[in-house]
Amino acid sequence: MTFEDKVIYQIYPKSFYDSNNDGLGDLQGIIAKIPYLKQLNIDMIWFNPFFISPQNDNGYDISDYYHIDPKFGTMADFDELVAKLKSVGIDVMMDMVFNHTSTEHEWFQKALKGDPKYMAYYYIRDAKPDSSLPTNWDSKFGGPAWEAFGNTGKYYLHLYDPTQADLDWHNPAVRKEMAKIVNFWRNKGVKGFRFDVINVIGKDVDLLDAPYGTDSRLMYTDKKIVHQYLQELNESSFGQDPDAVTVGEMSSTSIDNCIEYTLGKNNELSMVFTFHHLKVDYTHGNKWTTMPFDFMSLKNILNDWQLGMTAGHGWNALFWNNHDQPRAINRFGDPVHYREKSAEMLATTIHLLRGTPFIYMGEEIGMSDPQYQHLSDYNDIETKNIYPTLLAKGLSKTEALDIIQAKSRDNSRTPMQWDNSEYAGFSTEKPWLMPMNQSIVNVQNELVHGEIFNYYQQLIKLRKTLPIVSVGDYQPLLMDDTQVFAYLRTLKNQRLIVLNNFYGTTTTITLPAFTGEISTVINNYPTDIKLETTITLAPYQSVAFLID
Ligand code: GLC
Repeated sequence: MTFEDKVIYQIYPKSFYDSNNDGLGDLQGIIAKIPYLKQLNIDMIWFNPFFISPQNDNGYDISDYYHIDPKFGTMADFDELVAKLKSVGIDVMMDMVFNHTSTEHEWFQKALKGDPKYMAYYYIRDAKPDSSLPTNWDSKFGGPAWEAFGNTGKYYLHLYDPTQADLDWHNPAVRKEMAKIVNFWRNKGVKGFRFDVINVIGKDVDLLDAPYGTDSRLMYTDKKIVHQYLQELNESSFGQDPDAVTVGEMSSTSIDNCIEYTLGKNNELSMVFTFHHLKVDYTHGNKWTTMPFDFMSLKNILNDWQLGMTAGHGWNALFWNNHDQPRAINRFGDPVHYREKSAEMLATTIHLLRGTPFIYMGEEIGMSDPQYQHLSDYNDIETKNIYPTLLAKGLSKTEALDIIQAKSRDNSRTPMQWDNSEYAGFSTEKPWLMPMNQSIVNVQNELVHGEIFNYYQQLIKLRKTLPIVSVGDYQPLLMDDTQVFAYLRTLKNQRLIVLNNFYGTTTTITLPAFTGEISTVINNYPTDIKLETTITLAPYQSVAFLID
């Protein structure tokens, strides 16, 4: 499968559709909604993990990579899901969480009992001579990255939660296990693999303190050896399948590394998720703050990545939303006054860029953050850990809750809103997270009266019918404009001009004169608009012109 003209949809299984009314989404629930997915016309679905897991980090803490968690269904349900999706032309992408396992995984449990084979699967280290922790690294979920290894006096490394123990990829036996897992799911007809935080798997053999005042992430991110591990995994598993599509989630990465990860001849991955563009509303790089997004820096980042990846022949995944991000419409759009127009504008910006677009469930109907009123309404481990930290920094409870409302990962994890009933048609029982504005935003309503879903269908169609969208080059336009993100795609003599007004006010721009046969390929307003040297864009208007 080539991936340039494909669109991938992301499903958070716990929140998509609950077929057995226990308040949690499940595989049969996804099967029930296949006609909806087909209607959107996506090509592949990335499922967040539904393997056996204690669910401390909602499935990113896997205790058995070979079985479906009974909360989600059975292996028979999974086989049925793959077959039924395939019959309508949709492939499956599984989430491979290979940097760490749950501490409940059999390997870790055997290690704890002193089995040397499995102790060598993890980073288990002695304290320093002064009995401080083996290194000064921070966990990404707060606190130190080391936890006592039973009562041995030793410590094990966890870059994430203490229940997520990092695997030691230097050990060839670990790498073999990983390839075996990928091959098991390939044999079940899985064509896509998303590799969780894959650029932190390559630590050094000797783990050292981060120099004073530096970020400990530098000590383990994008190490050269990651490329070698990926090449080896590619060769021993998915690389044997010409149709495979892979995406690596890259934390704090660089354009140069991402070119390396995705360059065809390197045989590593098809594409990468990068996050720089989603940090433009962090004050001084700190997520747990609130500020309006910095539009110019958003533009510059997207532009740098587009230019850099084009020049280096790398390939990006394109996305605004996922299960770790608050809804983009709340961050970069206006869910109150311009819900439809701003949702469509954001979609246009991403879908017409060079790369493979990912749609996160609910985005196509304009779902937004729930803005829960109480901390107890939230479920996420990261949110729960940060609240006391924010209070300890001197913030009031209201200030801390305001930040959580804007930044919690639960913002995108709320149940998919199917109709306007009490639990949004997701379940007849109280769901694990509550839906919020389903009286207005729901699939039933959207398909009859809304315009966002239909607009997504048009964008998807453009990628499939216009090669300039899927394989054209990228060039910036109007980089100094403080309200419009404009760009040019080129393919041979063809050009595609894309204009996106990121604000709720009209704005007039001046463009160079373009000659040729001009047609409007998409416009989120019904009024005609012509490509002239002076164009006025309505609030959150997006328009694209093709010049032949
Ligand atoms: C990734 C996942 C996130 C998870 C983390 C640790 O960033 O997307 O949900 O918490 O990895 O596995």
